[in-house]
Amino acid sequence: MPRNYTPGRQPGAKHPSQRWRVQPLSTYLGGNRSSRCIQDISRIPTMDVTLEGIDPATPRAFLLACVTLLFSLHLWRWLGQRSVPGPPGPLAWPLIGNAAQLGKLPHLYLTRMAQKYGNVFQIKLGSRTVVVLNGDSIKQALVKQGTDFAGRPDFASFKYIFDGDSLAFGPFTDWWKVHRKVAQSTVRTFSTGNTTTKKTFEHHVLCEFRELLQLFVGKTKQHRFFQPMTYLVVSTANIMSAVCFGKRYTYEDEEFRQVVGRNDQFTQTVGAGSIVDVMPWLQYFPNPIKTMFDNFKKLNLEFGQFIRDKVIEHRKTIQSSITRDMTDALIMALDKLGDKTELTGGKDYVSPTMGDIFGASQDTLSTALQWIVLILVKYPEMQLRIQQEVDKVVDRSRLPSIEDQLQLPYIMAFVYEVMRFTSFVPLTIPHSTITDTSIMGYTIPKNTVIFINQWSINHDPALWSHPETFNPQRFLDQNGALNKDLTSSVLIFSLGKRRCIGEELSKLQLFLFTALIAHQCHITADPARPLKLDYNYGLTLKPHAFSIAVSLRGHNMSLLDEATRDAEDYSQLHITGKTQPRRRQTGLTSPDSCRNGSLVILV
Ligand code: HEM
Repeated sequence: MPRNYTPGRQPGAKHPSQRWRVQPLSTYLGGNRSSRCIQDISRIPTMDVTLEGIDPATPRAFLLACVTLLFSLHLWRWLGQRSVPGPPGPLAWPLIGNAAQLGKLPHLYLTRMAQKYGNVFQIKLGSRTVVVLNGDSIKQALVKQGTDFAGRPDFASFKYIFDGDSLAFGPFTDWWKVHRKVAQSTVRTFSTGNTTTKKTFEHHVLCEFRELLQLFVGKTKQHRFFQPMTYLVVSTANIMSAVCFGKRYTYEDEEFRQVVGRNDQFTQTVGAGSIVDVMPWLQYFPNPIKTMFDNFKKLNLEFGQFIRDKVIEHRKTIQSSITRDMTDALIMALDKLGDKTELTGGKDYVSPTMGDIFGASQDTLSTALQWIVLILVKYPEMQLRIQQEVDKVVDRSRLPSIEDQLQLPYIMAFVYEVMRFTSFVPLTIPHSTITDTSIMGYTIPKNTVIFINQWSINHDPALWSHPETFNPQRFLDQNGALNKDLTSSVLIFSLGKRRCIGEELSKLQLFLFTALIAHQCHITADPARPLKLDYNYGLTLKPHAFSIAVSLRGHNMSLLDEATRDAEDYSQLHITGKTQPRRRQTGLTSPDSCRNGSLVILV
């Protein structure tokens, strides 16, 4: 059929008033046209169609309607965006955004911005938009809209942590939900699950505390004053190593010190505001950020290898009737799950999970202990008050224990005040939105990076009187009891779907350690070096180096010696009631369970 055919007319004949050139709609709307389309139109002029019997106003009206509809749609969307706008925030520089303004202590800058722009504001870091949540908006996002805010950003650094299979740094998926439950219940089974597991855990703490105190007293005799930071890291790592792998290390063990001695490098790279994550192009030419990132990759490789070796060793010696430690428990739980579900994609998640538990626990807990020791010497009157409380409740004839916790409210108030005042995890691990959402009237698109500013809550003058003053008394009511409403207002373990899985274990350990320090020794500062409470920023805030001297409060350490000599009895603690002599049960044992840390839990 000829192209210019019009029914009822001869080809080529045209009605003068009813000849319409039908062209692509985009031609009228000024939309995109391919060059091919333009050529076609010029070569084959146009399709001439005469619309006999049709009012010429109709196609025009149709076009007008289309344009109006599209315009209205645009207007509607624009007005929609205006009625739920993105959060306000400071002006950003091209290329780097607000990165330079973060300074050395980003949490303080972010808290200042919250005072200026409100609890929800946004900044630009490199090319990434980051929404920062402060104050009330944190509970709203993490608890009430928990799923929307439960993601992790696709940051460069996160991908190097167990090849992206980490629970803590990995995305929010169906597998993640199952994985987290297994990890959480494993942690509980080896710490706060029940009275028996609590006692086993307490025994690990006692063993390690004895070693540490002996070392501290020795160092004081040798040097008068010494820096305790590294020993506190090794000591904490040893408690977790005993629980995780059934093994403790000596303070001189070079491999162990290498593995746990680079927490600061790790936390500086994954902490909120880490530059390489928002300007990944810095990895590709020599500069200090690249050097730092290369070190980060190396330490992750070495840490990963340390954990993988432990898992391999465990797989070789595991027996189905005995669960020696967390690694055994996790191997059994995850292998069973792997057989049942497709969600794992055939991957072995034991090493990444043990890496998460061991890594997250020893870094945070050792930082907490460093702060506790520093503050005890900074405020000697508080150290004295704790000693008086523990002497009164426990007396000098036995050691403090878990059962004493309720009767030692000042110690708990002190621990909570250390957590509030230092806020040593000032921002959580960065989150991201997993869907388009809104908060406090602001729209937040999917995949937006979210910083959770825990510091802003712990230092909010509306919540705490004189928040910049260290005062444990604030947590005690007029009867001297712990005010639970106030303690639950301290935010350091985060909230909601990503809330820390080690919270209960941590509180138990920090209580025990503080009570044992107060009961067993006296710590003093080096008068030649005035104590400051300065710190370096990272995922955890690490206090600057400080020096102390440690002396025993009693004549000797006989209570600790006695308690840890009972190790063989504790090694027969079990969950189901079966006990067996442990030396026959595992390949990781030695006669003294305090020496290698392996206490056996039978399941
Ligand atoms: C005082 C000690 C501790 C503090 C202050 C602390 C704090 C935190 C914080 C703030 C987060 C990030 C939550 C978020 O992104 O919203 C976290 C995550 C995590 N913590 Fe802890 N933590 C401590 C001890 C521990 C211990 C002892 C363990 C293990 C036994 C542990 C295991 C984890 C894990 C696995 C995650 C990742 C959770 C997830 O992404 O779902 N933490 N912790």
